Amino acid sequence: MNDTEMLLEAIKTESQKIDEAMRRDIESLKPHVDPLLVEVLEYGLFNGGKRVRPLLTVLSARMCGYEGDDAYELAKAFEYLHAATLFHDDVIDNAQTRRGRPAVNRQFGLVSAILAGDFLHARSMEIVGRMVGEKGLSIFCDATSGMVDGEFMQLRNAVQLNLSEHDYYNAIMGKTGLLIAASCEVGAIFGGGNDTQQNALREYGVGLGCAFQMVDDLLDFTGDEQKTGKPVGNDLAEGKMTLPVIITLNRASEEEKTWLHTVLEDQDHRCNELQAVKSLIESCDGFVETRSQAIKSVTQAIEQLHVFSSQDALKDKALLTSLAGYVLSREK
Ligand code: IPE
Ligand code: IPE
Ligand code: MG
Ligand code: MG
Repeated sequence: MNDTEMLLEAIKTESQKIDEAMRRDIESLKPHVDPLLVEVLEYGLFNGGKRVRPLLTVLSARMCGYEGDDAYELAKAFEYLHAATLFHDDVIDNAQTRRGRPAVNRQFGLVSAILAGDFLHARSMEIVGRMVGEKGLSIFCDATSGMVDGEFMQLRNAVQLNLSEHDYYNAIMGKTGLLIAASCEVGAIFGGGNDTQQNALREYGVGLGCAFQMVDDLLDFTGDEQKTGKPVGNDLAEGKMTLPVIITLNRASEEEKTWLHTVLEDQDHRCNELQAVKSLIESCDGFVETRSQAIKSVTQAIEQLHVFSSQDALKDKALLTSLAGYVLSREK
């Protein structure tokens, strides 16, 4: 089996175990919570997510020598937190579809999406606190606060025509990098990793997480809705200043820049000019440059793994390395 086949196989097996842990948990809730809440949770959780974050938790614990099955119980907390942010994110971004079907806010309304997200937040914190203790909980809560702050930054950044790449990185670090980093670091703590191993896995997660969001921002322009399961062009419609747009504004001629400003400043134009904006980004190599920044971030992530040299860690290290490659090549 080559590395990619090994990764796909691992994603499949590990996702099944993560899903089983979540299903057991939701089943155990049924006698205690409102049936509509259970319905929303089942709808929002079991619908084809890639399970990247909980997979990272499991692999990180193993990289540090952990061999048991309880890592799946911990890992589900990271999928819960991720799902909670997606429920809320789709409200914030006014998104219609997620994972190939109506987003939770569309299917059940805003109130249910917000409340079910809050429920998952609370449940995920309880799991991390119980299983990893104060340090794990503190990392987890910092990631959550950072994510909220990142979303605020993104709000402030919308339609800011002079936005710098630096501002963009701060926002994606907050809204995506920190949670992916926490998925790794908390897994490492749970797995008994020493400080060096915990730091290495956190930094791996930071690099991977930022690349993950850069690729997501690329896919928002270039992706196939059938594969991503979410609408193309939503970032532009919402006036989000993602890296391809920032790069293009820096490289375009005065005339092109004036045109792009006019588009960005008007919601109808943003919804109607997707193809023309894509062509301009393409002609300024905005997609190529975004991809090369994502490659840089992934390369830095992989470099962090050098501290794991033991024979026991080799298989999971290979998986983390190919996961980083997968983040770059993913189409969904
Ligand atoms: C989407 O995350 C939100 C971002 C941070 C870009 P994923 O692409 O991991 O979404 P699912 O869980 O696979 O649906
Ligand atoms: C994801 O950002 C941010 C979160 C913290 C959920 P996006 O808004 O780009 O995610 P998608 O594209 O809706 O999945
Ligand atoms: Mg969104
Ligand atoms: Mg997106």
